[in-house]
Amino acid sequence: MSPKTNPNTLTKPTYNASGRSFSGWLGGKSQLARTIIDMMPEHKHYCEVFGGAGWVLFKKSTSTLETINDVNGDLINLYRVFKYHPEALEKEFETQLISREEFERLKAEKNTSLTDIQRAARFYYLLRTCFGAKVSEPNFFSHVERQPHLKLGDDLKTVLSAIHQRLQRVNIENRNYDVLIQKMDREDTLFYLDPPYYNCEKYYGKDIFSRDDFIKLRELLKNIKGKFILSLNDIPEVRELFDGFYFHTKQIRWSLNSKAHDENNGKELIITNYQIPD
Ligand SMILES: C[S@@+](CC[C@H](N)C(=O)[O-])C[C@H]1O[C@@H](n2cnc3c(N)ncnc32)[C@H](O)[C@@H]1O
Repeated sequence: MSPKTNPNTLTKPTYNASGRSFSGWLGGKSQLARTIIDMMPEHKHYCEVFGGAGWVLFKKSTSTLETINDVNGDLINLYRVFKYHPEALEKEFETQLISREEFERLKAEKNTSLTDIQRAARFYYLLRTCFGAKVSEPNFFSHVERQPHLKLGDDLKTVLSAIHQRLQRVNIENRNYDVLIQKMDREDTLFYLDPPYYNCEKYYGKDIFSRDDFIKLRELLKNIKGKFILSLNDIPEVRELFDGFYFHTKQIRWSLNSKAHDENNGKELIITNYQIPD
């Protein structure tokens, strides 16, 4: 049995270099995680509002309370199955193959006829075998020199076991960002917010995030009791929108297939409502 944690303990997390998410994700913050974790103040509740594959969560030491949230129901169902039914998920992959035919079969399959475990297995298969983790419009990934991302057999067991362990005390939510922020806001909550980038609002599906949501998000963040860290692309429109908060910049390198000619590529703006000493 794990030792009981005092529910009032404040922690300042540290970076765990060996922590890994279960997958890449469009806009996933594996490269930015260390910078964000180093900026975290002491808090009781760590609340990741636009969770995706949760790279920051998986690379930080645990906080007293933790929440991961996303509006994507397939993704959140997968988190729940990682947390509660890892063996059943593993079983779904026992006789699985990595092939274009299987990819196309699963892509065409409708979720409505599946159990939660089958739904999680389908989503995980597509996520790990598609190009660029773009699971909203997946295309099969095959590369002459690279191994497939999806692990099977003992390798999959190792991955699932690590993810299962890390999620043991994480609260998993499937809310719109505004509902979650209002529900979780306390003086000792730290929100990490990683919404779609400005100009990329539709990347994660239709009608879940729009340009106007940046204004709504800003207004909400102006009035919260807790602290926040928000990461966005560093462009003048974003600086203007969030003027009045604290700005920090970081240059990261996106993958080769991103638009290298775009001068703003890889320039991250990290926005906080508290000062960070140099
Ligand atoms: C940039 S990604 C997050 C990546 C994540 N930080 C990682 O490291 O993998 C943005 C996420 O926001 C989610 N999202 C978009 N609109 C949302 C909304 N209205 N409420 C909650 N989540 C939303 C998307 O489904 C997507 O997973």
